[in-house]
Amino acid sequence: MGDRGHASARPAGKTLLNLGNLPPKQMNFAMDASSASYPRTASRVDPNNPPWPAYRGYHEYSFAHETMGKRLPTILGNAMTDVIQTLNEQWDEEKVLDLLRCLDRMHILMKELQDNAELRPIIDDDEGDIPLWNKAIAKYFRGKDFMSAPWLFAEAYKYRRLHECFSLSRYWSHYDVFFRQKCDTFSRSSTAVFELSTRFALPQKQDSSLSLEEAQHIKKLLFLELTQVSLWGNATDLSLLINMTEDDIKKIQSTGGDHLAATEKNILGNHLQRVWELVANMKGGRIDFVLDNAGFELYCDCVYADWLIQSGIAREVHFHGKRIPWFVSDVTRKDWNWLLNVMAYGSLFPGATRAEEQSLRELGKRWKQYVNEGKWIYEQHPFWCTGYTFWSISSEAPDLFHYLCESDLVIFKGDLNHRKLTYDCQAPSDTPFDVAIGPLASEEGAPPVLSLRTVKSDVVVDVPLDVSQKLDKDEPGWRISGKYAVVLLSDGDRKDKTQEQKNGNSN
Ligand code: F6P
Ligand code: MG
Repeated sequence: MGDRGHASARPAGKTLLNLGNLPPKQMNFAMDASSASYPRTASRVDPNNPPWPAYRGYHEYSFAHETMGKRLPTILGNAMTDVIQTLNEQWDEEKVLDLLRCLDRMHILMKELQDNAELRPIIDDDEGDIPLWNKAIAKYFRGKDFMSAPWLFAEAYKYRRLHECFSLSRYWSHYDVFFRQKCDTFSRSSTAVFELSTRFALPQKQDSSLSLEEAQHIKKLLFLELTQVSLWGNATDLSLLINMTEDDIKKIQSTGGDHLAATEKNILGNHLQRVWELVANMKGGRIDFVLDNAGFELYCDCVYADWLIQSGIAREVHFHGKRIPWFVSDVTRKDWNWLLNVMAYGSLFPGATRAEEQSLRELGKRWKQYVNEGKWIYEQHPFWCTGYTFWSISSEAPDLFHYLCESDLVIFKGDLNHRKLTYDCQAPSDTPFDVAIGPLASEEGAPPVLSLRTVKSDVVVDVPLDVSQKLDKDEPGWRISGKYAVVLLSDGDRKDKTQEQKNGNSN
């Protein structure tokens, strides 16, 4: 055996070169957003390389770190508690055993989260989204783990894996671990619910004594306020409000006019006037909502959509929900059906007066009628539950892109949708919205896009730099508090289309 102690067996020492005549070393190559290499040109952008640097779980300065390290394990732990409750209520042994196997899979997922495991492919559970998921993992995230993959993808992946815990089972493939929580929060929202139902239950009447101008002015004021009702409805996201008291919920759900006037100053990027200009002359249009949260937020969106129909602005409203339980509180078809039915037939609020109860029934029945008449259409494309951002809609889900292009206005609700619109990356805060959303603003036929979002995570665009810098300095935590909001509009590619139509007509 050779002598391992001999000098020749030790690794070679470093050879230092004397490079005195070469140019000095530059140290400012840090990959921050101010670096000249950003934004990446479109051809260099991919899900692991957004236009500006991605947020990743290991970035301790971002909400990604807190979410991946603490919030997701807590959410998963609560989901297990929910499953155990269901288990305790189950009498059929075969189903009990089947559910226990789901719980085992949840334990494995928890361990993988805690050990920061690599992202493995999703097991083929016959859901239509497997190719979308596994192509993304193989192509962009091979070898990446929960902390090193971009936050957006890793977080979405966790919810898809949670679904897999159930989709592989025999009896529980449609089980929603968040359903109880979603219903519970709505049933604790009585004050704000009745505030709206008692105002909007009766069908709107046109006041014939008003001049056209006056009527249009009133229409505008209502539109602006209802847009804000839908916007602030997004502040009630269950994944952040786990320990909220009824009083806390009341405070953030207050929908009165004074409150709205006061909160408008918290809209940091505010295109409300432009949105009004877009819809002011719209008659019988199609409006799409890419929904966010169930319960109170969905209720606010429906009040808004109801008014859009009654005012004649929209002829039909398409609601896009999620196919699987998603980011705790997002709307699934079951949540949608539950809301409409509980309003029309249920008795959810024990303290309600007869008039309040009746107002809710009227609303619920009218909304169900819209569904029956095809004025309200609920849909759930698999693309919404993937880790892709909306920069990839046209390439990964061209059918969905073309479908959205038929719309006169696509309203994206909430924080996660905003993250997906903007690639969830460290864009400078003054990046114009239509630059931040890339192809969804610029591709041929792109529809007008409106983001109604209360700010609950790091990415912020179309907000002047001095404003965001001052908040960063004076109010740490402003990016995740839900106190601030943005109302941002992209006109899409419609200007050209209208022009083309005009040209075509004149030829
Ligand atoms: O986990 C973080 C997050 O994805 C943030 O985007 C936001 O805090 C929340 O979850 C979801 O918010 P929303 O329901 O508004 O999309
Ligand atoms: Mg949500």
